[in-house]
Amino acid sequence: MVQQFANADLAGRRVLIPGGTGAVGEGVVRAYLAAGAEVVVPTRTPERAEEFRSILGELGSDRLHLVVHDYTTFAGADDLAEQMVSNLGGIDDVVAPIGGWWAGKRLWEIDEADWTSAFVSLATAHMAVARAVIPRLIRGGSYTVIVGASASWPVPSSGLVSMEQSAVLMMQQVLVAELEGSHRAFALVLGPVSTRSVAGEPDWVTSAQVGTIAVGLAADASRPGDVIRLTTPDDIAAALTLAEFS
Ligand SMILES: NC(=O)c1ccc[n+]([C@@H]2O[C@H](COP(=O)([O-])OP(=O)(O)OC[C@H]3O[C@@H](n4cnc5c(N)ncnc54)[C@H](OP(=O)(O)O)[C@@H]3O)[C@@H](O)[C@H]2O)c1
Repeated sequence: MVQQFANADLAGRRVLIPGGTGAVGEGVVRAYLAAGAEVVVPTRTPERAEEFRSILGELGSDRLHLVVHDYTTFAGADDLAEQMVSNLGGIDDVVAPIGGWWAGKRLWEIDEADWTSAFVSLATAHMAVARAVIPRLIRGGSYTVIVGASASWPVPSSGLVSMEQSAVLMMQQVLVAELEGSHRAFALVLGPVSTRSVAGEPDWVTSAQVGTIAVGLAADASRPGDVIRLTTPDDIAAALTLAEFS
């Protein structure tokens, strides 16, 4: 995987990355660590924490705070945000690559368990983190959600993914409207991603590039909230150029 990180210096900045243990999240965690930030990665299970620590290897520095904590409920996210404020003194940025893929049924074939796992639990996790963190985010801080192009493109037999991602993308747009510039809310809308799990194709964005762009957006305080699409090579090149100059 290409390792490509922004030049931004985020030393002392405190970022929360729920979903950071995932294939896309790994690139975001690596980019923030490379930029010198304090990085909090909550994960729901000790097994996942152990696995992620071994994936990161030596990068698992004392600035990586990998905590086993259920951040996917309103109470759990609230507790996590409060702990971050009391232990680190505040929250500067959030990047939320919470999600995953689901496929195999048309909408009229799903059962309640599918609905709960592919829509309700993920949408709830995003909402729980946003409502817990936004009131505690420093002024000018950034909140970035990561979704797929399926948020605005119907994918037959993966409709629950499209619906959930669309809801999260709208959540970011509502945040932009409600925050009125006090904080910056971004959405990164991804095409297929080259990750530790899927090598992919040369024209796919890599998880490292997603991390670089997330760091670049956070570092550029003059950049207002926005939706950034990373679905074509031109999109990716343009976003990386902006990140380079942040
Ligand atoms: N991979 C791609 O090619 C690709 C392409 C386009 C868009 N995206 C988007 O990028 C985001 C991350 O995708 P990913 O491929 O990195 O997924 P992933 O590898 O499955 O990781 C997602 C992370 O979300 C967390 N999570 C919290 N609640 C969850 C739940 N109810 N079910 C499953 N995971 C849950 C998990 O962290 P813990 O278990 O540690 O809590 C997990 O590590 C998603 O929004 C996805 O749609 C990915």
